[in-house]
Amino acid sequence: MTDTQYKNWIPITDAEGILWLHLDVENSSTNILSAPVLEELDSILDDIGKGNLPLGVVFTSDKENGFIAGADIREFTKVSNFDEAKAHIQRGQFVFNKIEALKCPTIALIHGFCMGGGFELALACKYRIADDGPKTRLSLPEVQLGLHPAFGGTVRLPRLIGAPAAMDMMLTGKPYNARKAKKIGLIDYAVPTRQLIPAAKKTIMNPPRVYKPKKMQAITNHMLVRPILKHFMIKTVAKKASKEHYPAPYAIIDLWAKYYDDPKKMLEEEANSEASLVNDDTAKNLIRVFFLRDQLKAQGKASAEEKVNNVKEVHVIGAGVMGGDIAAWCAFKGLRVTLQDRDPAVIAKAIKRAHKLFSRKMRGDRLGIIAAMDRLIPDVKGLGIPKADIVIEAIVENIDAKQGLYREIEPKMKKGALLTTNTSSIPLEILSECLATPDRLVGLHFFNPVAQMPLIEIVTADNTDKDVAKRTSQFAAQIDRLPLPVKSGPGFLVNRILMPYMLEAVRIHEEGVSAAAIDKIALKFGMPMGPLQLADTVGLDICLSVAQILSKELDVTVPSSLENMVKSGKLGAKSGSGFYEYSNGKKVKSKDSSKTVDTKNITDRLIGRMVNESVACLREHVVADKDLLDAGIIFGTGFAPFRGGPMNYAAKEGLDEYRGKLSSLEQKLGSSFKPDDGWEQLASH
Ligand code: NAI
Repeated sequence: MTDTQYKNWIPITDAEGILWLHLDVENSSTNILSAPVLEELDSILDDIGKGNLPLGVVFTSDKENGFIAGADIREFTKVSNFDEAKAHIQRGQFVFNKIEALKCPTIALIHGFCMGGGFELALACKYRIADDGPKTRLSLPEVQLGLHPAFGGTVRLPRLIGAPAAMDMMLTGKPYNARKAKKIGLIDYAVPTRQLIPAAKKTIMNPPRVYKPKKMQAITNHMLVRPILKHFMIKTVAKKASKEHYPAPYAIIDLWAKYYDDPKKMLEEEANSEASLVNDDTAKNLIRVFFLRDQLKAQGKASAEEKVNNVKEVHVIGAGVMGGDIAAWCAFKGLRVTLQDRDPAVIAKAIKRAHKLFSRKMRGDRLGIIAAMDRLIPDVKGLGIPKADIVIEAIVENIDAKQGLYREIEPKMKKGALLTTNTSSIPLEILSECLATPDRLVGLHFFNPVAQMPLIEIVTADNTDKDVAKRTSQFAAQIDRLPLPVKSGPGFLVNRILMPYMLEAVRIHEEGVSAAAIDKIALKFGMPMGPLQLADTVGLDICLSVAQILSKELDVTVPSSLENMVKSGKLGAKSGSGFYEYSNGKKVKSKDSSKTVDTKNITDRLIGRMVNESVACLREHVVADKDLLDAGIIFGTGFAPFRGGPMNYAAKEGLDEYRGKLSSLEQKLGSSFKPDDGWEQLASH
């Protein structure tokens, strides 16, 4: 018997009296627990309460991609205060409590992803049965958005599997496959797809004892054990995130430690805690970053028709640091790659590195690793050029070398194939001069290390063919990277904004502040690595060369200490010495002997240079808008995500105030802090 009064749920009672609640959210490719979906579920549950109790209730998804992706994050962006947020959360808790209270067997029948609120719904059921295929993923990723589970998840999970496993899941957000989930008690059965329905029926017909945590799991929740475990948990979390910047993981530990013995109170406190987090800047900014990622992905969106012409064959020229890793990444993503270098030994090294990458990424999948290795083909002679759908040039950063290569390869390339360069600083207008069709060259600027940095700048000049640029963005999306369209110019977007910040750090260092003290201040602000440690990692010679290129066109002064260090062979980590000393590539710990420093002033100087350059980039339309700029700097440099990007940070501080801050720094420190003319336009928007 089916009931058609609902838009998102399809309740079907079968001949045996089992109620199957199929979720198929209207006008959406993915099941999300929005307020209307929960409202409908609430009324279905009320109906169950009114009539004869079914033999059992099974929650299942009609979407191919998975069970439920979680709560609707957009709804959180609309609440304007604590009370609204709390009411919204308690509504969800209320519905899930009704599921928990049902007096018949209840089952979550899971395939594909089962995330956040979706997993919390499963936790409210008496049994969980999951598809044992590779696509099944159970996770509570809220912490990555500055939030925590709040539909009863923090209350139910430690009770089910004990505190250490529950905390690991909630504090990291990492997903579990069905096999692992079964092992720790998250689910009752992991079965092949064809067995899902029979397993659910069997469980309802013959309900087994509801899973109880093992003694060793349960004891971790004991009131005498909690304070000890809490101490270790906080220590572990503090290594990764400070409470000031990321309050959510601390709140999860606190809820459990303080309220575990009183589930009702714990549920109320879960709602209070989440309502505060929702209204906190960290969550607001992290949610913004989540949507910015989507905005970047959209830059490389391809229609079904366009996907037919997706890249299949890639040819990379230059197998050094970048080219070697780009080739490996493309092969990892399923493409056939030919890798060319004038030096065969460099190709051999790159292939060795690729094997390491595949082994790390496909742990245990021997056949997958072999297949990826087979896709990566050494090609000293460049035989792959005529077959390639895209050629990626990543040879030395030298105009003559690059132009010489283009002259040689252009006539050999397939008609319509993409010609791209990984140049980090040479304007496209110059590089493309030598081509018969200069409008076909596009910058495909990867960041180092390729496998970890999600952003690729798609660089175009005024004369670049628009369709070619679009296809290059689609290629970036095809290999699972985030394309950011930027205009050709000194340093493009990311390096142009990053470099003044790094050079300011060098200048502060010249004034006598230790590298460790400067880096510590940047870390405290939320950067993933201090600017001088970053300079050492990238290589001081590379930093110097980018700084020199920028200094020709922008108001950037190259600090003399940087030039001297490079002259004397101090190139950073690779030479064993830079701003820090290194032994076997590892930093040697040094004592921070620096005088007391003015943290606020140093933060303003470092970040101020970044923000001012961001404003200049907007004025020059290097990037289309503020959102894309923030996205580029977050995904290209790791800029403190909880601050939402440099422009978001400046707006939060107040645009006028920030500009005033730069003016007063200009008076003290000179023209490098002169507020860019673009501040005028920003203020008038
Ligand atoms: P690299 O020096 O490690 O590798 C360059 C490779 O190109 C060498 O193996 C060399 O043998 C080969 N090569 C030179 N001329 C060639 C030719 N005509 N034909 C075939 N092979 C040739 O350089 P790296 O660092 O990989 O940089 C490559 C490009 O990527 C440069 O344009 C650089 O600006 C850019 N880039 C570098 C980044 C980095 O962090 N190293 C980051 C982003 C871009």
